[in-house]
Amino acid sequence: MAVSSERPAGAVTPRAGIDAPHGGCFVVGTDTGVGKTLVACALIHAMRRAGLSPVPFKPVASGCEESPDGLINDDTRRLIAASGRMLSQDEVSPYRYLPAIAPHVAAAEAGRPIQMDSLISHAAALAQQGPLVVEGAGGLLVPLDGRYTLADLAVALGLPMVLVVGMRLGCLNHALLTAEAITSRGLVLAGWVANRIDPDFERAAANIDTLLARLPAPLLGTVPWGPSPDPAAIRLSLPALH
Ligand SMILES: Nc1ncnc2c1ncn2[C@@H]1O[C@H](COP(=O)(O)OP(=O)(O)OP(=O)(O)O)[C@@H](O)[C@H]1O
Ligand SMILES: [Mg+2]
Repeated sequence: MAVSSERPAGAVTPRAGIDAPHGGCFVVGTDTGVGKTLVACALIHAMRRAGLSPVPFKPVASGCEESPDGLINDDTRRLIAASGRMLSQDEVSPYRYLPAIAPHVAAAEAGRPIQMDSLISHAAALAQQGPLVVEGAGGLLVPLDGRYTLADLAVALGLPMVLVVGMRLGCLNHALLTAEAITSRGLVLAGWVANRIDPDFERAAANIDTLLARLPAPLLGTVPWGPSPDPAAIRLSLPALH
């Protein structure tokens, strides 16, 4: 499938996307380390409670451990565990790299560039099995190679987006920028999650109110800060999956 990252200024690309008969969602964060994996796992649990059989997809995973079976990524492991499916690391995360560094740098160092077409066909195959729950890497405009970013992959997949906002100082700007980058590409922002990653963040409620007033999508839930959060215990509303 041909992918283009070129858009005329001000134009909104129509949403096309892969054939995903069960729908799904693409979980993107305001930054790295804001709780995308936690929220993606919580959404997988919520879907399973609703009788669905979600399939996780973590297209690019940098930061792995070596094992006799190859590179093991912890996000990928957590996503597979939440799904309850017998899936391999290769099936869920086709591009895994050892160091926890920017994906395009890891890919270049490993001599294994990220192929967009391959990621898209991989996602399309997984999407035949159930609702696809995609976890992005870092934030939305993280580069995947010399040309594309994660946003280009999101456009190619065409799934509704779920924005995880790491509630800390600076999150309003990060959340609003990310929402604008989503909607300006013709993607649907299906919901957002307020994740209380910083227990010392002052005026968190006022910040959540600000985002409630300004983000063009429903709040799916607020995740409290906790020493070891359990995704199965988090209660989130399900976003629209189509
Ligand atoms: N609500 C919370 N309370 C306490 N700790 C949290 C909370 N949410 C996330 N964390 C912790 O913050 C860390 C980052 O969370 P998580 O791995 O889900 O983020 P991420 O956005 O997926 O990161 P990455 O960009 O590396 O994929 C984890 O150690 C996680 O347990
Ligand atoms: Mg993660």
